[in-house]
Amino acid sequence: MEDSHSKNLDDFYLAHGFATRALHAGEHVGQPQHTSHTGAIYQTSTFVFESAAHGAEIFAGERPGYMYTRLGNPSVKLLEAKMNALEGREAKQKNPDVRVSSLAFSSGMAAISSALLAALQAGDTLIMGNVVYGATENLAQKILAKLGVKVIEIDTSDLNQVEDAVKANPEAKAIFLETPTNPMLACTDIAAVCKLVREHCAEAAVMVDNTFATPYLQRPLELGADVSLSSSTKYLCGHGTVVGGVMTTTNDAIKDRAFTMAADLGGVPSPFDAWLVNMGLKTLPLRMQRHCDNAHTIAQYLVKHDKVEKVYYPGLPESPAHEVAKRQMKDFGGMVSFDIAGGVEAGRKLMDTIEIFTLAVSLGCVDSLIQHPASMTHACVPKAKREKAGVTDGLVRISVGIEDVDDLVNALEDALKKV
Ligand SMILES: Cc1ncc(COP(=O)(O)O)c(C=O)c1O
Repeated sequence: MEDSHSKNLDDFYLAHGFATRALHAGEHVGQPQHTSHTGAIYQTSTFVFESAAHGAEIFAGERPGYMYTRLGNPSVKLLEAKMNALEGREAKQKNPDVRVSSLAFSSGMAAISSALLAALQAGDTLIMGNVVYGATENLAQKILAKLGVKVIEIDTSDLNQVEDAVKANPEAKAIFLETPTNPMLACTDIAAVCKLVREHCAEAAVMVDNTFATPYLQRPLELGADVSLSSSTKYLCGHGTVVGGVMTTTNDAIKDRAFTMAADLGGVPSPFDAWLVNMGLKTLPLRMQRHCDNAHTIAQYLVKHDKVEKVYYPGLPESPAHEVAKRQMKDFGGMVSFDIAGGVEAGRKLMDTIEIFTLAVSLGCVDSLIQHPASMTHACVPKAKREKAGVTDGLVRISVGIEDVDDLVNALEDALKKV
């Protein structure tokens, strides 16, 4: 079988900036035809062998080639090569011996579950953030725990809690965190966590959900993590047209096992979806910068509004996440959460009346979205646990798009007047 996941960063991409890599990296990787300017969509389930011997050799891994799209596809391979260049370049520059590998999946949850299943087995310990995306929380508490994994939840943004947990669990096999978190935008110091894990848990893999930041803003592998995970449904695709996921890692063993998970559990992307994510990635730096600029303006506007009680945005100097975000991120991201005076009723009124913002879950689209975490994305997290983490019934989350920012501020102003 062709190892479609070990394509490494070559010198050309190591030498170029993020925007150049977003456009060019991977474009011809794994593409049998080199004449199409845009990587082609290989919308096929299976591939033709020249002879029975040829097919047998590919299956035996004795020569490169494609067999069946669940096991590898040129359009998917192109996306994986581009993600190597975006997530892994700085890690590779720091340590040229490191091998950077990416795997694309059919959803962010397929990527996260495959990575965790690759690192853990019955009897193992997983230390994870106590405020993570609802389905990740469910995966840990309802599926991994049932399979015999011990799950310990801590606030990973508090390094004292991380230190206590790693000291108390030196046998832990993985530590999983989100930064910034969904929906509270708390930030964890990735480098500091990696240092503590290396000191106390020799075998633990550090896994970071990088969905909110994207590699444009933050590269967990550069900061010492073993695995960076993203829901490509969000900013990587950017246009709200795909459900997908990507994992990038410097750990060959996890990569091999995660490939087996993808192949045998089957959470692989369609070639068309991989192509759409690749198209999105080409404009990631431009989009992401505009998301950040607009979100910053909106957070500054909301913080002064008398109907808004609290704003969560790492770019605000008073945010507890500010210092860590400033250190490890290029900018502060496109997500803003806020508590509105009047609680859930006021929040509902805002969401039902606001213009331009679409009332929908998901995030990272070019256009602005608004949603209510307590009854939508985080409804599956028990209320007491939700509230302990700050996800009140009045919390509203906005994914700030790339519209003209004045229009977004005016839309919020008009809707808040009606609350
Ligand atoms: C931070 C984060 N991680 C993972 C996921 C899951 O991604 P997907 O819906 O693509 O499975 C989401 C989805 O909203 C998310 O916000």
